[in-house]
Amino acid sequence: MKIFITGIAGFLGSHLAKHLINLGHDVSGNDNMIGGDLENISKKIIFYKEDCTDLKKMTEITKGSEIIYHCAATAHEGLSVFSPNFITKNIYLASTSVITASIINKIKRFVFCSSMARYGEQKTPFTEDMDTKPVDPYGIAKVASEKCLMHLADLNGMEWNIAVPHNIIGPNQKYDDPYRNVVSIFINRNLQGKPAIIYGDGEQKRCFSYIDDVIFCLIKLGLDKNITKEIVNVGPDEETVSIKEVANLVANEVGFNGNPKFIPERPKEVKLASCSADKARKILGYETKTSLRNSIKKTAHFIKSRGVKTFEYNLPLEINNEITPETWKKKLI
Ligand SMILES: NC(=O)c1ccc[n+]([C@@H]2O[C@H](COP(=O)([O-])OP(=O)(O)OC[C@H]3O[C@@H](n4cnc5c(N)ncnc54)[C@H](O)[C@@H]3O)[C@@H](O)[C@H]2O)c1
Repeated sequence: MKIFITGIAGFLGSHLAKHLINLGHDVSGNDNMIGGDLENISKKIIFYKEDCTDLKKMTEITKGSEIIYHCAATAHEGLSVFSPNFITKNIYLASTSVITASIINKIKRFVFCSSMARYGEQKTPFTEDMDTKPVDPYGIAKVASEKCLMHLADLNGMEWNIAVPHNIIGPNQKYDDPYRNVVSIFINRNLQGKPAIIYGDGEQKRCFSYIDDVIFCLIKLGLDKNITKEIVNVGPDEETVSIKEVANLVANEVGFNGNPKFIPERPKEVKLASCSADKARKILGYETKTSLRNSIKKTAHFIKSRGVKTFEYNLPLEINNEITPETWKKKLI
């Protein structure tokens, strides 16, 4: 099939491309390179350096595709509280543009990558039937994009599925972004002899997924004819860990001897976030095969092989006031 992936130079997009090519599909995709890495782009795809918000271009380059995976986003939940204009533009405006182009081009199926930020601060584990209650601009823009997709797709007869991935780690993930990807940031810092920086007491709890365990779920959401109009959490519900524990696991893996540095908590950070994997197990055959310890090992191996990097502050910080984290204001990471 002809498959188009937005955000193809990013983490999820590049893995999807690799697996879909291996399955014999014809893959193309775009990325505006705000966050992607050219090294992630397979030579076997057609790549367009284009921005998803450009409706005319997106209509041009998605023409002839049968399935669209919309992975492009500035997936910066914490930063979205301080750069709401920049983040929501690359989530909501980008999504509406790709959805519109897909409808114009009569795309058969649209798979949207949402986020567990859709659930906000509710009782865990989050299940797909819960109301969406996002608490930050990133989550709000994801929910708005989901609604826009469901509404317009149903109206125009386009199939859709929504994946809700959470805290995925593994090779190809950006590790020099000071605003996101906690495990990769900890590894990149520890490998440079610097301590992990933890917001608050480090007791915020998360559940991490390994990329190879979740990618097949995304593939099924695109290719399985019997699965449509589904919203599915994609990732594990075992091994919930605190960020403090994650810092210890990373330090042990890379042989860093110091202690983490604790700084004031970030506003709006959800304390406990984990998703039920029951639906994914049932309809997608999801199974956690990689332990957190092993996932960290593989991610550290990737970062060592590409080489440590200094952190890049290339994204706008729109609201710079007394509640903006010092790490970002003073570029401390
Ligand atoms: N990785 C995770 O743990 C995770 C968790 C929840 C949700 N998601 C969602 O999955 C999707 C993929 O995430 P990821 O981790 O691969 O992120 P990523 O940052 O690695 O990849 C996203 C890519 O989108 C590109 N991009 C951003 N705005 C764009 C625009 N306007 N036009 C074109 N390209 C643009 C970036 O340059 C980047 O390469 C996102 O929608 C994200 O919200 C990811």
